Amino acid sequence: MIPPNIEEKIGARLLYKPGPLRLIKKKIEDYFSNYHNVGQAFAIMGSDDPYVSVQANFDDLLIPEDHPSRAETDTFYKDAKTVLRTHTSAHQIELINGGHLHFLTFGDCYRKDTVDSSHYPVFHQVEGVCLHPKHEWDTPEKAEKHLKTTLEGLVKHIFGPSIQIKWSTDYFPFTNPSWEMEICLDDRWLEILGCGIIHPDILKRCGADEYYTGWAFGIGLERLAMILYQIPDIRLFWTKDERFLSQFADGDAVFQPYSKHPPVYKDISFWIEDAYHENDFHAIVRNIGGDLIEEVKLIDNFTHPKHGKTNHTYRITYRSMDRSLTNEEINLLQDQIRKQTLQLPVGLR
Ligand code: PHE
Repeated sequence: MIPPNIEEKIGARLLYKPGPLRLIKKKIEDYFSNYHNVGQAFAIMGSDDPYVSVQANFDDLLIPEDHPSRAETDTFYKDAKTVLRTHTSAHQIELINGGHLHFLTFGDCYRKDTVDSSHYPVFHQVEGVCLHPKHEWDTPEKAEKHLKTTLEGLVKHIFGPSIQIKWSTDYFPFTNPSWEMEICLDDRWLEILGCGIIHPDILKRCGADEYYTGWAFGIGLERLAMILYQIPDIRLFWTKDERFLSQFADGDAVFQPYSKHPPVYKDISFWIEDAYHENDFHAIVRNIGGDLIEEVKLIDNFTHPKHGKTNHTYRITYRSMDRSLTNEEINLLQDQIRKQTLQLPVGLR
C-alpha cells in the first residue's frame, strides 16, 4: 500500500517545471550531449512512470533476496510484484535491451527514510550508462579511466574547474568494481554519486556481453542542487511559494532565504519491541504531518537495567516553509501521530 502523502507526489514532474531541479537536469544534459566531453552524444530516455517491477528494481540488478533495501521498511510496495522505484538503475536493463548504448535517464525515486533537512521520501536521480566495444576497452583500466574522466568533467562543468574531487571504492551488486565520488565544499567531503563497471551478468541478460563492456553511474539531483544553490532544506523543492520559485526562474542563483517561520517542537516517548523499526515511525509522522515535518530526531535511547526494555524519545520539529503554525493545529497532528504509533510494536508511555 502506498501512503496518500506519497501517492499525491507522483506525477508532480518537478524535473520539467521551472526550479532548481530542472536547472541541474539541463546542466547534466548539456554536458552529455556534447560529443567532445564524452566521446559519444548520450540519448536522453524518458522514464516517467515510477512504478516498476520488483524484477527490474532488484532481481535484474543482482540484488540478493535478503538485501535490506528490499524490506517493506525501506521500499514502497504497491503489491508483491510492484514497487515505486528506489533508484533509476531499475531502467538499465530495459534500455540496454532496447538497443541503447549511451544514455541518461532522469526520474523521481522513492525510499522510506528517516526525516531531516536533507532526506525526503521522494527524490530525483539521473542514471547514466555507457557501453563500448570490448575489443577497444580491452583492459579494465580503460573503462575505469573513461568513467572517471567523464564524471570528473561533469562535476567541473557544474561546480567549476577548481572543485576538489576524491574517489573511493564502494559496493553495488550491479557494478564491479564500484566507486563513490566525493567533492569538497567548505572543508567538508560530500558523497555525490555512485558508479562502477557494469557487472557482466547484467550485460549477459541483454545479450550484450560478447561485444560490449561498459560503465554506469547514479546521481541524486537534490543533493547537487542543494550544494550548488545553497538550498538549506529539501522540502523547498516542493514548495509552490513564488519567493522560492522566482529565484530560479532566470537560471542559476544562490538561494536567498526569505523569512524563516518559527518551529514548533513536540516530543513523543515509547517502549519498543524487537519488531519495531524506526522507519515505520518516521513514515507515520511524515504521512500525518506531511511537509510540515522538518525533522524527526531520536533524542533519547535508553534500556531499562531491570526489565531490559528499550525506550525511545523522539523530538518532532514542525515548521512550515510558507507560514506560521499554531499550537492547536500541531496538537491535533501530534494526537494523530500518537494514536497511529500505537499500531506499531510499541508501548506508549
Ligand atoms: N543506483 C545506485 C544508488 O541509487 C547508484 C548507482 C548507479 C551505482 C549506477 C552504480 C551504478 O545508490
